[in-house]
Amino acid sequence: MPTSVIDLPKLPDVSLYGSLGVSTSERLAFQRTLSKQRSPLVRGRILHRPLLLPCTPEACHEVLVTKAKHFEKAPGLRVLLYMFAGQGLFTSEGALWQRQRKLMSPIFQPAPMHQYAETMRQVATRAADRMRDGEAIDVAQETTRIAMSIVGKALFDADTFDDADALGAALTTALSWVNHNVGSPGLIAHVLLLDAIEALGAKTSGSLNELFESAHKKVSVPFLLPGVRDEKLRSAVKLLDERIQDMIDERRRQGFARKDLLTRLLTAQDEDKPGAHMSDKQVRDEAVTLFVAGHETTATALAWSFYLLAKNPEVRDRAQAEADAFGSDPITQWDPTKLEYCTRVFKEVLRLFPPVMMFPRRAIDDVEICGVTIPRKTLTFVSAYAQHYREDSYEDPHRFDPDRWLPQRESLRPKGSYLPFSAGPRFCIGVHFAMMEGPIVLATLLQRWRFEIDSQKTIEEDDFATLRPKGGVPAFVRSR
Ligand code: HEM
Repeated sequence: MPTSVIDLPKLPDVSLYGSLGVSTSERLAFQRTLSKQRSPLVRGRILHRPLLLPCTPEACHEVLVTKAKHFEKAPGLRVLLYMFAGQGLFTSEGALWQRQRKLMSPIFQPAPMHQYAETMRQVATRAADRMRDGEAIDVAQETTRIAMSIVGKALFDADTFDDADALGAALTTALSWVNHNVGSPGLIAHVLLLDAIEALGAKTSGSLNELFESAHKKVSVPFLLPGVRDEKLRSAVKLLDERIQDMIDERRRQGFARKDLLTRLLTAQDEDKPGAHMSDKQVRDEAVTLFVAGHETTATALAWSFYLLAKNPEVRDRAQAEADAFGSDPITQWDPTKLEYCTRVFKEVLRLFPPVMMFPRRAIDDVEICGVTIPRKTLTFVSAYAQHYREDSYEDPHRFDPDRWLPQRESLRPKGSYLPFSAGPRFCIGVHFAMMEGPIVLATLLQRWRFEIDSQKTIEEDDFATLRPKGGVPAFVRSR
């Protein structure tokens, strides 16, 4: 058994960048190779930097859960999201992250989340009302609109909230900028520069060290990335700042009467420090983070859901039957037992197409994973995608089989083998929201419509910020 990184099996390089590749097809091929590895860990590289890749569920569980305190999120992510999401929960680290997670966790517990079930149903019903028999649509565009409106209503109590709204459009502009820069040479160059400054800083002390520290702070904001000086992006960020501040001021004037997430963020209190609230800037960063993290992921999973249902008519019929059983009763009271099958469908979709495929981490200190000593600063990528296609965790892993998630079968899965929401302290805070939204939207649309998708057509994956269906999901709407 290897005990040092250098003795681990090495993945072949697929491009000059190293083992990860640059194009979508290279990145997906890399993850498929990863899912076939028997060794708990393998090594690869990104440019000149060594990369450690946990392969087995146990190794992923150690990195994300049991040894989580030895890792931080990799710096590239911070650079990319800093521009418009600032220091929200997704990107912050250390004491700031701990404080924010503690403040925000009560808001995202299942009970307070249930009040948004009605919003989810209403938005999905509105979308179903707009559709016409025989109409050609892109399901992915529809689900984006639906998920954006749901998060817009939950966050800002905004009745119409989509990309036609100025705030929605500004957020979409900022998000597309992120999408275009994920894994870009500009981002890699930026991270390497940060790395070099950090390494030089570590070798110095006194005023020279302070100089490196301040240089590091300055280059922690994006400036090498293409388009960052783009007027469109700048005005989008400006509009975001102004509009969210206006909403914060309005909540304050009205004595925090609304029940939206923005109000809950503004009034969240630390139990240990009564009276201590988040600053307006922190609330703004969290709101933008929740908006981004909370709609693109669900929208993508919903788009894949309708694609897989169209390809698997027997599964679709069972999901439709469950939706039909509501009759004229609205799905207002969230009762997971009534949407058991749609929930299993959504879970299985998240296995086959995990919207967030990989979780980049960096070791803060030397740490042992599955008996191998990983040196401080080593980059490691945990791949949910690779876990979800492992044959030793899932029988016939390419098959769409929602019944894998029957409780008696689910309980047999090893820890670390199902990671759509990650695991450990940084697992998705919006998991209850998402696991309500997916089945409610599915059932609401299935009650009314069938989406006909060319059965011969296979839609490929496209890995932007999330794992999207390439070219969308073109479909014909058919009345039932
Ligand atoms: C199907 C839908 C969703 C998926 C697949 C998903 C997936 C994830 C994953 C994998 C992470 C962790 C990333 C990492 O460890 O590097 C994460 C974190 C996060 N998600 Fe989600 N998410 C979804 C929906 C949501 C929703 C609806 C919200 C909010 C309304 C949300 C808010 C967040 C936040 C704030 C974090 C950062 C948590 C932290 O670091 O403490 N997500 N999500």
